[in-house]
Amino acid sequence: MGHKDRSIRYAARVALEHQDPEQWQGRVLNETHRERLVNGAIALARVGDKSNQAPLLDALNRVSVDGLSSDQLIRLLRAYGLIMMRLGSPTPEQTKALIKRLDPLFPSEDRYLNAELCKLLVYIQAPATAVKGVSLLNSAPSQEEQIDYAISLRHLQSGWTPDLRKTYFTWFNRAKSYRGGASFRKFVDFIQAEALENVPEAERPSLNDLLARATPPPSPLAAIGARRFVKDWRLEELAPLVEHGLENRNFNRGRKLFGEVACFACHRFANEGGSMGPDLTGAAGRFSVRDLLESILNPNLEISDQYAPIVVTTTDGGQVTGRIMNLVGDELMINVNMYDPNEIERVNRAQVESIEPSTVSMMPEGLLNLLNQEEILDLMAFLLSRGDRQHPMFR
Ligand code: HEC
Repeated sequence: MGHKDRSIRYAARVALEHQDPEQWQGRVLNETHRERLVNGAIALARVGDKSNQAPLLDALNRVSVDGLSSDQLIRLLRAYGLIMMRLGSPTPEQTKALIKRLDPLFPSEDRYLNAELCKLLVYIQAPATAVKGVSLLNSAPSQEEQIDYAISLRHLQSGWTPDLRKTYFTWFNRAKSYRGGASFRKFVDFIQAEALENVPEAERPSLNDLLARATPPPSPLAAIGARRFVKDWRLEELAPLVEHGLENRNFNRGRKLFGEVACFACHRFANEGGSMGPDLTGAAGRFSVRDLLESILNPNLEISDQYAPIVVTTTDGGQVTGRIMNLVGDELMINVNMYDPNEIERVNRAQVESIEPSTVSMMPEGLLNLLNQEEILDLMAFLLSRGDRQHPMFR
């Protein structure tokens, strides 16, 4: 039950759940090994009855959180969540104790831990979650992380002020320009509608105004926002710094910058981000450090076929650049604005003179020129880590 391999912990728990809880619930409740207790609590939450709710919460409350890794904390929080979901909501007394215990952990350094904390703190209606959650929502670099907070906050009823609500609902206007699957926009609308239901009648008209008024930002590059030009960086200057080996780097700052200079807007990395360019999670394995830097500094040097725009030249000398989406009858449908899949130009096939790959990448040049040296090194460390915050570069 406390094995370091999660598959074995899982198998042990399933085996336990197939035994009569009468035989083992006492041992779970008196367990002193943290990992065994948390895993046992999950088992008992799944197969026990309501009489187990209070003893289980008490047992988990005795677990010291000192020295627990983010993953261990997440498991502890899931055990709390499961107990309340399956065995009954907490009493006012239990709620007070839980807020006292969990509120100080939020926010943490870890984005996944924060998502879990936010969910649980909203469930127990911890009042400080409005301020803290909205602030995380505003600073989260990826749309996935933002959605984690937004989706939890829609159920929060305590701790709001009109200003916090305004900031929260402004996010929905931003989210409407985000890209996802075919139903993405609908899901954002659902979250927004449910969030509005928790707003007092009196505040609704002004929020509805706000939601109707704002226009979405024109492009993902809007994320760059207030960043200013720092320096025209050259490969020869940066490559030795990165090749020398990165140390003492800051994972969270690297990830944040990945959002601030818009990489996340176009690239997926460790399961977050957009899909206009290739997934960069494994880029560290495909490129040497120098080539990786070069492809960021100079995106036009080598454009991967899969993502290259095409240039269609017509018999009357005109040119259309974009991506071919479809051929409908005799017409080529070309998406001419990579930021807006609905912006389509049609070219009659009979009028096509030539179709060539473009020599200009869709990735803008000069993004690194918005960063100072330390920031570039954190961004590169993040990229080279493949998403592993435990990597020695961050020690
Ligand atoms: C506007 C969209 C956009 C933005 C913003 C953007 N990229 Fe790209 N990027 C692309 C596209 C499209 C390609 C593939 C076409 C090409 O090779 O030029 C690409 C290619 C790359 C490659 C080569 C990957 C490969 O497998 O060939 C790297 C590395 C890269 N980008 C890193 C970054 C980093 C780091 C940032 C942020 C500083 C960034 N990109 C910002 C669109 C973008």
